[in-house]
Amino acid sequence: MKILVTGGAGYIGSHVVKALLESKKHEIVVIDNLCKGSKKAIDALKTVGEFEFIDMSLEDVLRLEELFKTHKFEAIIHFAAFIEVFESTVKPLKYYLNNTSNAINLITLANKYGVKNFVFSSTAATYGEPDTAQVSETSPQNPINAYGRSKLMTEWVLKDVALANKNFRYAILRYFNVAGASSDGLLGQNYPNATHLIKVATQTISGRRDKMSIFGDDYDTKDGTCIRDYIHIEDLADAHIYALDYIKENDSEIFNVGYGKGYSVKEVIDAAKEVGGDFRVEISDRRDGDPACLIANSDKLRKLTGWSPKRDDIKLIISSALKWEENIKE
Ligand code: UFG
Repeated sequence: MKILVTGGAGYIGSHVVKALLESKKHEIVVIDNLCKGSKKAIDALKTVGEFEFIDMSLEDVLRLEELFKTHKFEAIIHFAAFIEVFESTVKPLKYYLNNTSNAINLITLANKYGVKNFVFSSTAATYGEPDTAQVSETSPQNPINAYGRSKLMTEWVLKDVALANKNFRYAILRYFNVAGASSDGLLGQNYPNATHLIKVATQTISGRRDKMSIFGDDYDTKDGTCIRDYIHIEDLADAHIYALDYIKENDSEIFNVGYGKGYSVKEVIDAAKEVGGDFRVEISDRRDGDPACLIANSDKLRKLTGWSPKRDDIKLIISSALKWEENIKE
């Protein structure tokens, strides 16, 4: 297939491009405006296989349309988005413009030019504060921050468009907490000023930070810190390939992507200390927008597509992130 990947220079996007190139089945065009993505990731991917890279923003609709005119895409995998929960609470419009409005630009062109398959990076943040320990795809979606709402709106757009256009199919992937780096050390999280827990912990181990904070230890959880379902980036990348193969032959579908297991912030920090040695941690105030607990029920993805995680091990996730952190030169 000829596949357009938006945000392919980003953390998740680059790992998916790598998996697609390794499968040697597809022709890939990557667009990324490099505002968060990294040119280094593109250069690294060029060592894996051939693909076209275009430095382009989704806001540039005229240029984007030229791309659709010159390429006959059969699928789009759409990553380009902002992802930080806290930032979305202080800069909501930044999120609605990029994650919702720019996504609509892309979906509009996908429809105009007859693209049949659309894989969308959605998020567990669309569930908000779930009532149940594990969330399934049918759990209520009541996002508690602008990030979650910006992604949920795009989900709605995709669903409505697919109802109106029977030739258009989507796979909505709701990611839980993605972490780690590629096992061969080629790719990892390049993002400057990263805020994600495992990234921050590995930066502290490797001396890029002198300490880190636990954002709140008074949540209603087993040890008072927030619980998340951490998934290795390579298992998440594989899920895209399975989901795309699935919608090509079947109908549109929504899939949670996680392991179904929760770790508290304190448990992740303890595991990081086991992997990389002791480091300074302090307790700070809660961070706005954080739900207490998010754990995936990903049975549907396993059952319908045959996806099966290979790296379900928190220490393996942390050690791959640490290896990456120790090798990068910022
Ligand atoms: N945390 C700390 N200290 C830090 C960083 C994070 O205590 O230095 C805590 C957070 O408060 C939260 C947990 O660690 O309780 C996880 O935080 P992350 O920033 O790593 O991730 P989030 O859960 O906020 O969000 C991530 C993605 C979202 C996605 C969500 C799904 O950024 O895109 O996971 O669960 F929606």
